[in-house]
Amino acid sequence: MKNYKLAVVGATGVVGRTVLKVLEEKKLPISEYVLFASSRSCGKKINFMGKEYIVQELTEHSFDEGFDFAIFSAGGDTSKKYSPIAASKGCIVVDNSSAFRMDKDVPLIVPEVNPEEIKNNHGIIANPNCSTIQAVVALKPLDDKYKIKRIVYSTYQAVSGAGSKGIEDLENGITQFSASKNVMSFVEGNVPNTDYLVKFPYPIFNNCLPHIDVFLDNGYTKEEEKMINETRKILKRPDLKITATTVRVPVFNSHSESINVEFENDFDLDDLKNTLKEGCNIIVQDDINNTIYPLSSFANGHDEVFVGRIRRDYSVDYGVNLWVVADNIRKGAASNAVQIVEKLIYS
Ligand SMILES: NC(=O)c1ccc[n+]([C@@H]2O[C@H](COP(=O)([O-])OP(=O)(O)OC[C@H]3O[C@@H](n4cnc5c(N)ncnc54)[C@H](OP(=O)(O)O)[C@@H]3O)[C@@H](O)[C@H]2O)c1
Repeated sequence: MKNYKLAVVGATGVVGRTVLKVLEEKKLPISEYVLFASSRSCGKKINFMGKEYIVQELTEHSFDEGFDFAIFSAGGDTSKKYSPIAASKGCIVVDNSSAFRMDKDVPLIVPEVNPEEIKNNHGIIANPNCSTIQAVVALKPLDDKYKIKRIVYSTYQAVSGAGSKGIEDLENGITQFSASKNVMSFVEGNVPNTDYLVKFPYPIFNNCLPHIDVFLDNGYTKEEEKMINETRKILKRPDLKITATTVRVPVFNSHSESINVEFENDFDLDDLKNTLKEGCNIIVQDDINNTIYPLSSFANGHDEVFVGRIRRDYSVDYGVNLWVVADNIRKGAASNAVQIVEKLIYS
């Protein structure tokens, strides 16, 4: 088998570092890696695969020397500029940003759901939004069996989803709380100082922010719009009725989602639970008598999607409520991207 050459773009970021970790675990037949970031991190040393790599600055000539694959996790602007350059030189880009997700010529892939679309790429494959990935892994087997009529998403998203600056805001909020030694000032709302914020408009410590990405003219956020449009594209259900409310919560890692689903067809609840149990990379954690349900702290470090609190929605004819949790940095970004590369290599 051929030995491949792969570029990790954004190797110093939250997603990029996890991409490196997942690559170390997967042991793919890749003989050469090059790690890229911006000029800020150029020259930085990273231990990877048992040796020291020097981070290189990404430039227009970075892809001149025969790469097979590149995993981009460096923001939309970087992807828009450099992914087409890489693709024009024969490199297949798996892009973690939202830059190309809704382009009709760019497959939007979750390997458990629509791997057959990978072959339709023209050099760029998009990795969906983290909150969409975990949702569609759980929804695909249910759509196949009972046909989904409508979805209501309500998300509880971890700060790691906002990158290193999101993590920094929560860390600094905790430090400020610990230093104040005055719980009541936080209960009463007199938070002393918010100068430390680098990512969110308000402290994420002690708050749930109903605001992820920018607001659109229709009152939704871009994150909500992404969940709606990307779900439709991945499930190949362009007219599916979906609404979403996405919320950032003071959790370091792993997104939780309440998903309310209405089906066209009736279902038996035990049969639905078995359908989920048999689904690809789904772990059902649903034993309320023993207080078992998915939690961020269980999902951290895993690539599976955890589903629990599975119960009928009695307000409609054929509805169900699900609680879906997954590691947004692994399955929601890094692992999904590496799985796509794995499929490209082995299929
Ligand atoms: N976090 C998540 O859950 C998640 C999930 C899905 C998708 N994503 C997407 O993945 C991407 C990275 O997110 P993140 O959370 O890892 O962000 P992050 O922690 O802020 O890291 C950003 C990375 O991009 C690099 N970068 C920035 N500008 C660059 C440039 N001009 N050229 C080359 N590299 C550049 C940074 O390098 P320096 O060290 O040089 O600054 C850093 O390595 C974003 O597009 C994000 O939307 C994130």
